[in-house]
Amino acid sequence: MKLWGGRFKEKESRLMEDFNSSLSFDKTLWMEDIEGSMAHAEMLANCGIISKEDSSRIIGGLKDIFEDIKSGTMEIQGDYEDIHSFIEINLTSRIGEAGKKLHTARSRNDQVAVDMRLYSKKKAAEVIFCIDALIASLIKKGEENPAIMPGYTHLQRAQVVTFKYHMGAYVSMFKRDKKRLENALELMDESPLGCGALAGTTYEIDRNYTAGKLQFKKPVDNFLDGVSDRDYLLELLSDFSIIMMHLSRLSEEFILWSSKEFSFIQISDEYSTGSSIMPQKKNPDALELIRGKTGRVYGSLMALLTVLKGLPLAYNKDMQEDKEAFFDALNTVEACINIAADVVATMTVKSENMEAAVDKGFLNATEVADFLVCKGMPFRDAHSVVGKIVLYCEEKDTDILSLALDEFKNFSELIDNGIYDYIQYKDILSKGIKKEIKL
Ligand code: ARG
Repeated sequence: MKLWGGRFKEKESRLMEDFNSSLSFDKTLWMEDIEGSMAHAEMLANCGIISKEDSSRIIGGLKDIFEDIKSGTMEIQGDYEDIHSFIEINLTSRIGEAGKKLHTARSRNDQVAVDMRLYSKKKAAEVIFCIDALIASLIKKGEENPAIMPGYTHLQRAQVVTFKYHMGAYVSMFKRDKKRLENALELMDESPLGCGALAGTTYEIDRNYTAGKLQFKKPVDNFLDGVSDRDYLLELLSDFSIIMMHLSRLSEEFILWSSKEFSFIQISDEYSTGSSIMPQKKNPDALELIRGKTGRVYGSLMALLTVLKGLPLAYNKDMQEDKEAFFDALNTVEACINIAADVVATMTVKSENMEAAVDKGFLNATEVADFLVCKGMPFRDAHSVVGKIVLYCEEKDTDILSLALDEFKNFSELIDNGIYDYIQYKDILSKGIKKEIKL
C-alpha cells in the first residue's frame, strides 16, 4: 500500500517494494510520527487550510491509532512503504476523507526529518540520564574504597595515585561526554516541519506554531537544508563514539585489573561468565563486549558520514540509511553505559593488592628527586642520582624506603633522615598540588 502511484503505468516490482520498504525499522518512530502529524493538523486548521472539523477528526483518529499501537491492539506490520504511509493509510481507513487531508502542505521529506529530530532529541536526553547514573556509580565506588594504587604511563608503574582519583579521571571524561550531548541537543533544536519536499509550500502555514508545539526552539532557517540536514545524527554518533571509546578504555583497565597478574579488582559473578572447558575460568565478558561493541558504533558513524558525502541537495533516498545505523548505535551505547554502571557498582576493589603494588614499584622515585632539589641539587642531577638509587635497589631486590641512611649517603651527602617521611606514599599525596589526589 502506497501514498503515490498516480503517474505510474506499471506496478512496482515486488523485489523493489521489499528493497525500498523501511517499515521494519522506521516503525521505531511511530510515536514521533503521530506527534508531528497532530501538530501539523492543528496548525492546518489554525491557518484555515483545512476545516476545524477535519482537523479534529484527524487528531482524534491519530489519538486512537496511538492508543491502539501502545496497547498492542494494532501491530505495525504489512505491506507499507514506511511508518508514514502506515499511519496515514490506516488513519484514512479509520476516519475516511478527512484523513486524506493530513498531508496537505507537507512532504515525507520534512515529516521524516521531524520524526528523526524528535526521536533523537528524546533519546539523547535518555543517554545523558544513563551517563549520570554511571558517573554516580564511579564516584560511589571511589569513595567507598580509599586505597592508594599505582598510576601508570606506558602501562609501567609510574607514580602513586588513589583508586578514587583514577575513577575521577573517568568521571571527568563522562562529564565531557554529557556536555557534548547537551551541546548537540542545543544545536539540533530546530523544527524542519514546513520545509515541504524541499522548497516550502504555497500555503501560509505557521512554522513557528508547529515548532513551538513540538517543543523545538525555532523552525530551521532554510528549507533545502531542513530536509537534507543529518548533521545532528552525525554529531550524536560522534558523541556516542567518544563515549564508547571512554567505556572501552575503562573496560580494558578493568579487564587487566581483574586478571591474576594485577588482581586489583574482582568483577562480580553477575557480570562474568565461565568457560565450557576450563573449570577455573571466570571471564570478564561484559567488559569485553563493551570493548568489542565500540567498533560497531564507530562503524555507524563511518556509515552515515559516507552515505552523506557527495549527496546533492536536497533529499535523496540514500538518507533512509541513517536509521538502522543510528538506532543500532543508540541502543548499543545505552546498553553499554548501563552495563558499565552496574559492573562498577558490583565489583570488589582489592585495596591491599593495590597498595602492595605501590610498595614494589619505586613509585616514590620522583619524590626522592624532589627531596634532593629541596636540599639545593638541580633537578637534572637529582634525576640521575635517583636513577642510580633505583638500580641499586633493583640489584638488592629491595625498595627505596628500606634503604639505611648510610646507603643513601653513598649516593648523596644531601640526604638526611627527613627522607623517610618525605617519600612515604600516603604523605606524598599530602604535598603540593598532589593534595588534589588525596585519599
Ligand atoms: N523512508 C524515508 C526515509 O527514511 C522517508 C522519506 C521518503 N521520502 C521520499 N521522497 N521518498 O528517508
